[in-house]
Amino acid sequence: MAEKFYITTPIYYPSDKLHIGHTYCTVATDTLARYKRLQGCDVMFLTGTDEHGQKIEDKAKEAGVSPKEFVDRIVEGPQGVKDLWKLMNISNDRFIRTTDDYHVRSIQRIFKKMYDNGDIYKGVYRGKYCKPCESFWTETQLVDGKCPDCGREVQDAEEEAYFFKLSKYADRIQDLLENTDFLEPRSRVNEMVNNFIKPGLEDLCVSRTSFSWGVPVDFDPGHVVYVWIDALSNYITALGYENDKYDDYDKGWWPGINIVGKEIVRFHSIIWPAMLMSLGEPLPKKVFGHGWLLLDGGKMSKSKGNVVDPYLLAQRFGVDALRFFLMRTFPFGSDGSFSNELLIQTINTDLANDLGNLVSRTVSMVEKYFGGALPADQKADPALDEELEALGSALRDKYEQAMEHYAPHKALEEVFKVIARANKYIDENAPWTLSKDMEANGSRLGRVMYNLLETIRLCAVLLTPFMPESCEKIFAQIGACEGCRTWESAQSWGRLSPTATVKRGENLFPRIDMDKELAELERIQEEAKKAALPDLEIEPYAEEKVDFDTFCKSDFRAVKVKACEAVKKSDKLLKFTLDDGTGTDRQILSGIHKFYEPEALVGKTLVAIVNLPPRKMMGQESQGMLLSAVHTEQGEEKLNLIIIDDSIPAGAKLC
Ligand code: MSP
Repeated sequence: MAEKFYITTPIYYPSDKLHIGHTYCTVATDTLARYKRLQGCDVMFLTGTDEHGQKIEDKAKEAGVSPKEFVDRIVEGPQGVKDLWKLMNISNDRFIRTTDDYHVRSIQRIFKKMYDNGDIYKGVYRGKYCKPCESFWTETQLVDGKCPDCGREVQDAEEEAYFFKLSKYADRIQDLLENTDFLEPRSRVNEMVNNFIKPGLEDLCVSRTSFSWGVPVDFDPGHVVYVWIDALSNYITALGYENDKYDDYDKGWWPGINIVGKEIVRFHSIIWPAMLMSLGEPLPKKVFGHGWLLLDGGKMSKSKGNVVDPYLLAQRFGVDALRFFLMRTFPFGSDGSFSNELLIQTINTDLANDLGNLVSRTVSMVEKYFGGALPADQKADPALDEELEALGSALRDKYEQAMEHYAPHKALEEVFKVIARANKYIDENAPWTLSKDMEANGSRLGRVMYNLLETIRLCAVLLTPFMPESCEKIFAQIGACEGCRTWESAQSWGRLSPTATVKRGENLFPRIDMDKELAELERIQEEAKKAALPDLEIEPYAEEKVDFDTFCKSDFRAVKVKACEAVKKSDKLLKFTLDDGTGTDRQILSGIHKFYEPEALVGKTLVAIVNLPPRKMMGQESQGMLLSAVHTEQGEEKLNLIIIDDSIPAGAKLC
């Protein structure tokens, strides 16, 4: 019977549209799942959404809809989570939503089980809470008084709550982390042990009463289960743990492998195993904490406004090219910096130049020299063929080594070494010269072409988990039968039929004009950024009250613009000469050149506050200030001078 292999992604917060960072994690997990299927394993691949918590409740309120309506829109709606995974060709077998009835019931049972066994008890929570991360922190864990994960402000929190006896499991967890390969990469182990376990694991607050969007604690109304207890359990509820929806939990699927981003390793390598220990269930086989895709040196996040849209990239470059780029460029366990330039460069170098060219040149040559079908009579030349054949034969093992160690980037490196060698083999054998005398060299040319097709076949088998659709097309172009597309067939050289028939197809990876594409992407991304900004923003109202007498001290007057000019050497300042009704001209300087051309203001009647102390700007005196209205439109600052009716005489007091 095939080996069972269960692999999961984190379940995503549907609080905003997903970005390329989320896509990275899911594509990586999908690639590993497809690799295991290719190997013949019976794979269960789970992803889903983590839909409870205060953040979602708040966002729904802001949007004026119920929390369920809010999450439904982001999970199921157009360009939502499910749409994105479909687009990216994600082959998940299950999709769990933590609002699914069966999951909610399971969570209530899990909570009760831990309460009944004495690991959950009631107390009072006092501490700090980071709402965006849905994380509780103690004072000592804060960094500069802020959330150690996201650096944002935390709030004081005090409420009656249930606690999980996490402290009880500290020693076992430390042993698990230090003495097994439960958590990888190993670099993350020290971080967990030194930052969280050694300072003393405190019991964890696992219920809230200050909001209601969560799984209700069924034996204590008013409490909802802490969102991480709810979320982490998805990996087993989705198999049927404590529910009747599925019955796979006891059928050898669990334990599985949890792939997660580095900032949630803490939850997965400390809280999650402690929960399972409390429940008396087996621990995951492994937690792998991958790095972040950074943008401009920082983590992408919607709240910082620096997210990259996977829809846009997939539409412009193709899904497979995007999948490939993510896996080829960034070592899986480390952080990596995303840029459009790097993306285009990777596509051009690896896909267009190396792989694409190898396929199209080879297929074209077989068509040109042999009418598409290789001759049965082929002549090997060990001196020329040996190296390529040896590399091709050894490739699967090297690739497997890398994939088994969660290093898809290394697996691709191995494949591309062979592709580069094959391109060199074309030049060494100069088929165009051999073809000049087909009678003498036809059989040698046949073998050269076969070796190239066979190299392409081997590489395409191993690239299938990364670029499933493109590899299908490559197989079709090189005439690879079903039997020579398998894992087993990639073990040895020579499985492609010696008389394979090729069929030229579309250019799989067209070369991209870097400068043109960069400019276009920048334009689209700027536009999208603008469109995402609120249409209209006004300054927040002042909290502080001003008393009437103080207000009345301000002397507002109608003033008429006699002359207006730009102040020399200043980009901003305009100098106004104003009739203020006193018979003496008043000079006011105002930093509004960005909004007005000076000539356009001559003759206008404006409002000035005239009893401010005079002040000097760029060496010139300003005797007051002109009033204007300010607001922001799609991120752009707008300013309008208060222009009043011309019939109002200069010097009229405004009150
Ligand atoms: N809901 C929790 C996970 C619960 S799992 C029981 C959560 N959701 S999330 O939507 O905020 O993030 C999901 C995953 O996306 C995390 O693993 C996170 O690390 C990953 N990424 C989000 N931004 C990322 C990058 N910029 N780069 C790489 N991965 C990133 O956390």
